[in-house]
Amino acid sequence: MNHSLPICASAHGRVNLIGEHTDYNGGFVLPTAIPQKTIVEIRPKSKSDTQVSVQSAGFSEILRYQTGAEKKQGDWADYVRGTTWILAREGYQVPGFDLRISSTVPVGSGLSSSAALEVALLRGLRDAFSMNLTDLRIAQLGQKIENEFVGARVGIMDQMAASLADPKHALFLDTRDLSYRKISLPFDRADLVVINSGISHRNVGSNSGADYNTRRMECETACAQLGIKQLRDIGPEALSSRPFLALSEVLQKRARHVITENARVLSAVKALEAGDLQALGKLFVQSHESMRDDYEVSIPEIDFLVKTAVSLPDIFGARLTGGGFGGSIVALAAAGTGRKNAENIIRIYSEQLKHKATILVAGAESKTL
Ligand code: GLA
Repeated sequence: MNHSLPICASAHGRVNLIGEHTDYNGGFVLPTAIPQKTIVEIRPKSKSDTQVSVQSAGFSEILRYQTGAEKKQGDWADYVRGTTWILAREGYQVPGFDLRISSTVPVGSGLSSSAALEVALLRGLRDAFSMNLTDLRIAQLGQKIENEFVGARVGIMDQMAASLADPKHALFLDTRDLSYRKISLPFDRADLVVINSGISHRNVGSNSGADYNTRRMECETACAQLGIKQLRDIGPEALSSRPFLALSEVLQKRARHVITENARVLSAVKALEAGDLQALGKLFVQSHESMRDDYEVSIPEIDFLVKTAVSLPDIFGARLTGGGFGGSIVALAAAGTGRKNAENIIRIYSEQLKHKATILVAGAESKTL
């Protein structure tokens, strides 16, 4: 399969600027697309042929299965099996096809390689089989693949970002009603920096997967005890209320992160719109501290990267981005300093921790897109 296949579609990875673990609590998020993306090429088959053949650039074997007989296997191809499974379940009849996948979104970097694959594939199949699917519907189907086929109880941020965000804007999304607004990123004054710690993050089938689902359950327990539907329903004033203080210490910490993080997203939007990069940077740092101390989803290597970043001149702020337990940091640097600062950060990380971090975004790339 070396020639190109007739249908081609793609979707970007995302970096979340702020608003972590708020999406499954009905809250606010502020992701943007990164230049890295996943590309799918598709050759549709005739109606009677149900065989799907999948070839991924990272793997030599060709994987085959029949639509209508998708079984979860616990590997990356579950995102493909899950896609044809969800389409059939939602009433879209998809025959077989040849599929070729390539991606520059590193797996395990916390930058939503799985959402990029789901959205790219849904876009490709929409074109291949003339399906009537809006971008919003594609994001919703992507989340269902994760929740109902793969078994990761993720929120909808990643799929909304992969389907609707672009690298020049932040996508300010209300995950409760899925309304969103795009806000220009101030690339004339700031460089976005994204560094992969090299420590893998996963939402499913690993400790971090189990921990992700545990965090989600803790939020649900806190809601049940507080008598509310979602943590989105209460604001920072509730933190000193009697019912809140009656929660266990762990549940208070989890809920406090989500409640304060929602407030931080709203402040970040204001800061971004006012061009107040100092304020935005401070919110990044507060968000990181909250994820580290209250939500407890950071790891020492990520804390080190963040600490190093904020100790450097010209960095407004930095934080763990994505689900946590590994993955990447996002930082905001003064325009023109992103690359130099990112190189310093990964050098210090490698000297002191003996780990290899990778620079994924350092300002200039995203401007040219
Ligand atoms: C993962 C999930 C998202 C979101 C983030 C944390 O990326 O896929 O839905 O919950 O973690 O903000």
